[in-house]
Amino acid sequence: MKVLIVKYLPGGAISNTRKVLEEALAVLKSRPVTVETLDITADWPDFFTPERLAVYYERNYGGKKVSPERQALMAGMDRMTAQLKAADMLIMAYPMHNFSIPAPVKAWLDAVMLKGETWDFTPTGYDGFLKGRKALVISSSGGVYEGNMAFLEHSASLAKVDLGFMGLEVETVVAEGINKFPDKVDETIKSAREKVRTILGQWL
Ligand SMILES: Cc1cc2nc3c(=O)[nH]c(=O)nc-3n(C[C@H](O)[C@H](O)[C@H](O)COP(=O)(O)O)c2cc1C
Repeated sequence: MKVLIVKYLPGGAISNTRKVLEEALAVLKSRPVTVETLDITADWPDFFTPERLAVYYERNYGGKKVSPERQALMAGMDRMTAQLKAADMLIMAYPMHNFSIPAPVKAWLDAVMLKGETWDFTPTGYDGFLKGRKALVISSSGGVYEGNMAFLEHSASLAKVDLGFMGLEVETVVAEGINKFPDKVDETIKSAREKVRTILGQWL
């Protein structure tokens, strides 16, 4: 069993999200799994530049062969896509930024959601190719997104949509209210860690 961890924790040592991820790492250590880590702060996903998008359309939508020079433009995205496809389980860890997924993490999703690789059209609709695999999304946010605030949450919920589109079965654990309730941070993180342990305990 190969577990891929995709993390974006620019807070480094003081990251709240990292404290929750640590629980996942502790569980993984006690299981016979291989862990591979993609640290997005060190290995930035490529964006779709006009040149790169043209190759993507020609190759992935048009089924055309492109020259090695132009194909090379897709090397970064292809590498990250192959890395995801080779994993049996995915764990993502990133904080909420501006009500959403931080841009570098969204860039990773854009890099791996390649037609013909992780999903495709079928006569009956879209088909995700990563079925049968599980993903755990670990995050933290300053506010709490429930009740009449729930509509503002586009972070864990968007990851769930995107990963689900590729066929993954997704669970999310978010340590919410980090900035809203500073006195309760330890409690909030402890509770998120417990949820992570429970989910991974069921999966592994
Ligand atoms: C650039 C930036 C944008 C943020 N935007 C939001 C936001 O829209 N909503 C929210 O609830 N918290 C927001 N926060 C707060 C973080 O999500 C929160 O402090 C989180 O615990 C940080 O995780 P980390 O310590 O792992 O970096 C933001 C923080 C930063 C640095």
